[in-house]
Amino acid sequence: MGIVGGSAELNTGARIPLIGLGTAAITQNEEEIIAAVTAALQVGYRHFDTARLYRSEHALGKALNSAFQSGLVSREDVFVTTKLKNTEHDDPVAAIKDSLMNMQLEYVDLFLIHWPIKLRAEIPLAPVKEEDFLPLDIKSTWQAMEQCMEMGLTKAIGVSNFSSKKIEDLLNYAKIPPAVDQVEMHPQWQQKKLRDYCNKHSIHVSAWSPLGAPNTPWGSNEVIDNPLILEIAQKHGKTRAQVILRWGIEQGVSVLPKSYNTGRITENFQIFDWSLTPDDHDMISKLEQRKLLRGDNFVNSTTSPYKTVEELWDGEI
Ligand code: A2P
Repeated sequence: MGIVGGSAELNTGARIPLIGLGTAAITQNEEEIIAAVTAALQVGYRHFDTARLYRSEHALGKALNSAFQSGLVSREDVFVTTKLKNTEHDDPVAAIKDSLMNMQLEYVDLFLIHWPIKLRAEIPLAPVKEEDFLPLDIKSTWQAMEQCMEMGLTKAIGVSNFSSKKIEDLLNYAKIPPAVDQVEMHPQWQQKKLRDYCNKHSIHVSAWSPLGAPNTPWGSNEVIDNPLILEIAQKHGKTRAQVILRWGIEQGVSVLPKSYNTGRITENFQIFDWSLTPDDHDMISKLEQRKLLRGDNFVNSTTSPYKTVEELWDGEI
């Protein structure tokens, strides 16, 4: 069985399915993650996004391997992404090998540098202590990412939470250009400048928290509760989440909604047999912009490479 729904071509020639299940672990309950991944596979999802930070790799791998064994899908049918932790820039090869062991896979489809930040220790979402920042050398990290690809441990490499300027710097020395930049993107943070830059350089954009992460500590309900989204949803007889996700794929990005609820996992996949109108796009394009996860935990005036959030995003905030 091939990719269900749409897909985009990466600069490696591989195809990335336009909808993927995000697995940032709101829950740490393995059984819940396995149930969500299994439900998603049954509905038709063929793209799964994890990260070493999320601690969902093991459960994701278990669910995928059961699906391979039962014949529901084969390895070639699914696209699996994981990401290097901020504490692992010194040895991406060891990190990806550990991920592959966690997931019982021979390769991933995409391996990303999670953040342009190098740390000694990290508690997710908590302010990083001054003494935990380490000098960042993206060039050497990227060279090791390239090695991961050359070793066949991943089919593609990329970045996450990189501004256009950081990608531009990377392209100056990259032997293998990044295939993907995975960033926060939704109708209230549309990333137009970054997407134009990435389009010009054949870099695919993936959207994390495409719904604005309702009911999470880092997100907000304001995207899904936006009155314009509700109005468009009512007009099409769709849900607000479906409008937001459809908007994302019509912008040419892949969207990675997270859900541990079978009904919502199913709902989020039903976005391929209808479309938004040019008018809908026009109205959404005028929404006020506000980034939800600004990265304040990664800046300080002493040890971080970034003194302010403006520096972290090179002004794209
Ligand atoms: P749940 O797991 O209870 O479905 P994002 O992908 O933007 O980060 O958002 C993730 C959050 O959105 C999760 O809290 C998830 O909760 C919720 N969510 C996912 N799909 C939907 C949907 N279709 N409608 C409303 N909330 C959703």
